[in-house]
Amino acid sequence: MIDAFGRSITYLRISVTELCNLRCRYCMPEEGVCKKSHADMLTEDELILAVEAAAALGITKLRITGGEPLVKKNVVSICRRASKVPGIKEVCLTTNGVLLPELAKPLHDAGVRRLNLSLDTLNPEKYAYITRNGQLSDFWKGFHAAMDAGFEKIKINAVLVGGFNDDEIEALAELTRKYPVDMRFIEMMPMCDSEDFDSSAYIPYTRVLEKLPDAVPAQPDGGVAKLYHLPGAQGNIGLISPVSAHFCADCNRIRLTADGKVKPCLHSDAEYSLKGLSFDGMREQLEKAIWNKPAWHGDLDVRHRSRAGRNMNQIGG
Ligand code: GTP
Ligand code: 5AD
Ligand code: SF4
Repeated sequence: MIDAFGRSITYLRISVTELCNLRCRYCMPEEGVCKKSHADMLTEDELILAVEAAAALGITKLRITGGEPLVKKNVVSICRRASKVPGIKEVCLTTNGVLLPELAKPLHDAGVRRLNLSLDTLNPEKYAYITRNGQLSDFWKGFHAAMDAGFEKIKINAVLVGGFNDDEIEALAELTRKYPVDMRFIEMMPMCDSEDFDSSAYIPYTRVLEKLPDAVPAQPDGGVAKLYHLPGAQGNIGLISPVSAHFCADCNRIRLTADGKVKPCLHSDAEYSLKGLSFDGMREQLEKAIWNKPAWHGDLDVRHRSRAGRNMNQIGG
């Protein structure tokens, strides 16, 4: 479906849970999330009905997110059923990777074709700090499990945090020479209750280019990242700049939260509930959400936090 600003909406990001086995500082508060009542969450059948209604409106790509989608017990079944919905051409998933040793193969068998993995640092102590409790070795086990399961074009996401990982930009970028992966650097978005970082922590994507003078522009892949390539590399460098150079004019996506709210924009508090509705009711709400998708997400910087009314783990990025 085309929205009021002429954008074709073809991509639905579905958060299947707010829960996570890590606690990244830019994403969620230390105490985790207050568990919502089970009855408020979409059931698996409702979620699949929502995918069918979305597909009827022209959604062709799904990305399963969280929280951490792999802590959801029925995630494999959700992926298997969603990938069979007529009109859905691609099911992708974004994960911190920790549970991939058990789940990479079942997810691949269930029709998931692409994975994006989060990794902000190559240093085990720094990884434990930024995730508040994670072990870097668990990430690498998950990464290798994903490669072994046959996932291709894996993308690794690092959120740029000035004073924390800007000294590792070159080392993270080197992963594109060592492995057939894209390495993407994401400007940190200030969320509702994410940690209070001072202004020096918010660094623009241009800092990455300053550190990688050999990087040359590469062909865009239709995603939100500006792409570059290092000589001899197997994958691209991606720069995602929601803060310093937003890409809202080309946005093709809407979101569905685990509690059944369609969010037409990551940073807007507008929400359209699908909970308990029929196919027709869901389709109508999705149509409203798409039609009312804001032109852009508004100012976002150290003084202007997201107006989403939720933390990142409650939206799915
Ligand atoms: P592909 O293009 O399918 O590879 O994935 P993606 O980049 O859309 O998904 P991913 O889950 O890896 O998200 C990467 C980063 O981009 C996260 O920090 C998201 O929050 C951010 N992001 C994704 N879509 C949007 C968007 O529409 N607006 C903003 N501001 N940020 C977004
Ligand atoms: N700003 C930018 N990216 C974020 N992510 C989580 N929180 C933020 C934030 N505040 C990223 C994660 C994951 C992706 C889905 O969103 O690192 O890779
Ligand atoms: Fe969990 Fe992802 Fe948020 Fe980190 S960014 S706490 S891995 S949901």
